[in-house]
Amino acid sequence: MIIIRNGTLVLPEGLVRGDIALEGGHIARIASCIAPAEGDEVHDAAGCWVMPGFIDGHTHLQCWTGMDWTADSFETGTRAAACGGTTTIVDYATADRGVTMPDALAEWHRRADGTCTANYAFHMAISEWGEGSLEQMDEVCSGGVRSFKTYLAYDHLRLDDAQTLEVLEAVRDRGGVLCVHCENGTLVNELQRRVISQGIVGPEGHPLSRPAAVEAEAISRLLYLAHLAGDAPVNVVHLSTELGLRAIREAKARGRQNIHVETCPQYLVLDDERYLEEGDDGFAGAKYVMSPPLRKPSDRRALRQAVLAGEIETIATDHCSFNLHGQKDRGRPEAGGDFTKIPNGGPGIEHRPAVIATTFEGELGPCDLVRLMSENPARVFSMWPRKGRLAEGADADVVVWDPAARWTISAATQQQAVDYTPYEGFEAHGRAHLVFVNGRLVARDGEPTGERPGAYVAR
Ligand code: URP
Ligand code: ZN
Ligand code: ZN
Repeated sequence: MIIIRNGTLVLPEGLVRGDIALEGGHIARIASCIAPAEGDEVHDAAGCWVMPGFIDGHTHLQCWTGMDWTADSFETGTRAAACGGTTTIVDYATADRGVTMPDALAEWHRRADGTCTANYAFHMAISEWGEGSLEQMDEVCSGGVRSFKTYLAYDHLRLDDAQTLEVLEAVRDRGGVLCVHCENGTLVNELQRRVISQGIVGPEGHPLSRPAAVEAEAISRLLYLAHLAGDAPVNVVHLSTELGLRAIREAKARGRQNIHVETCPQYLVLDDERYLEEGDDGFAGAKYVMSPPLRKPSDRRALRQAVLAGEIETIATDHCSFNLHGQKDRGRPEAGGDFTKIPNGGPGIEHRPAVIATTFEGELGPCDLVRLMSENPARVFSMWPRKGRLAEGADADVVVWDPAARWTISAATQQQAVDYTPYEGFEAHGRAHLVFVNGRLVARDGEPTGERPGAYVAR
């Protein structure tokens, strides 16, 4: 048995001083004092918060995204996640056109099974819809998938509105949730063309081609479609703008139900001035080329308020890492490229808990961090009550968080297998001191122990 003693336990009912015992992959006991027996492994958590492991509901690992393979594999990505305190990820298995959903699910299992430090579940991203799709959906539901994704942008992935409506109805009928990438792809294509024709080809062109209205229009349309589908459950992923937030508020004010909202750390701490960063080789702005792009300070402030007000339920990463050198620099104008040739996405799977705990220090307490990064993702993605809470019988995914730790985020010391971090130099307040996945110690103070107990979470 593993016993974690003297910590402040972050329980669903609030903070309690006490001990917690892990055995056989589950939480065996929670009590004010658990006396160790001979052979028990004891960890002292004095001064620490003992929390349910964090869940990252939005990752892209070991994935071809249309432009390149992501830098992080399931092995490196889940190891990095665990070192930061994330004990479960939900990754987007993607059925590219011509690939069935069951085949995509099988392929994602081939990539992940046996290599993961953290637990993993899969959403199924759908890029075409037609004959046989309902049967395929049933098959992957039997395989433990309960959430799906569609895109309103990216020509090789996006569905039209009629198809999106049908997917919403199908997901509703299966008790799932549809995650949607909300950007109007037709407008993105046109604005990219206009920006380039003005001679703006560097990374600063990326946000100009995807302004807030492009996101807000897509969110608004999606929420009308979800209404037409009988208030089908939707998760608006990676919300980045105040205008998009307003579209969500308007839908809710119309009485619309079943709207979940996710944002990511990058939209809460970084601004679009980053696209002007030059770095050593004049191309550092490419680090921030992700979709949606980084936004104005006013957007950041609006999203932060929405997090504090509980309007945004979950904070995930959209971890989709590409190296600056050798991958993103394919879009260098000197090499004949432009910002549309830069693979979209950035890393964050390792640093989300520390970045959020730090940037909201004094505003969000330990119970709030658990709500946003453990409990709510577990509920939205059908893992509750097995995950997302400390309770006897729940899975033994536990983080012992030291709020007094001080450290600096840097690519030089990160586990993520990528050559930069957007949070370089960020002074973090708090750190995952001990991380347990399925009752096994996987990380200590940001370093992996080498254990890889991560298992598939069928939902
Ligand atoms: O730029 C990003 N976020 N790439 C990952 C795919 C997506 O849009 O979620
Ligand atoms: Zn997306
Ligand atoms: Zn994504």
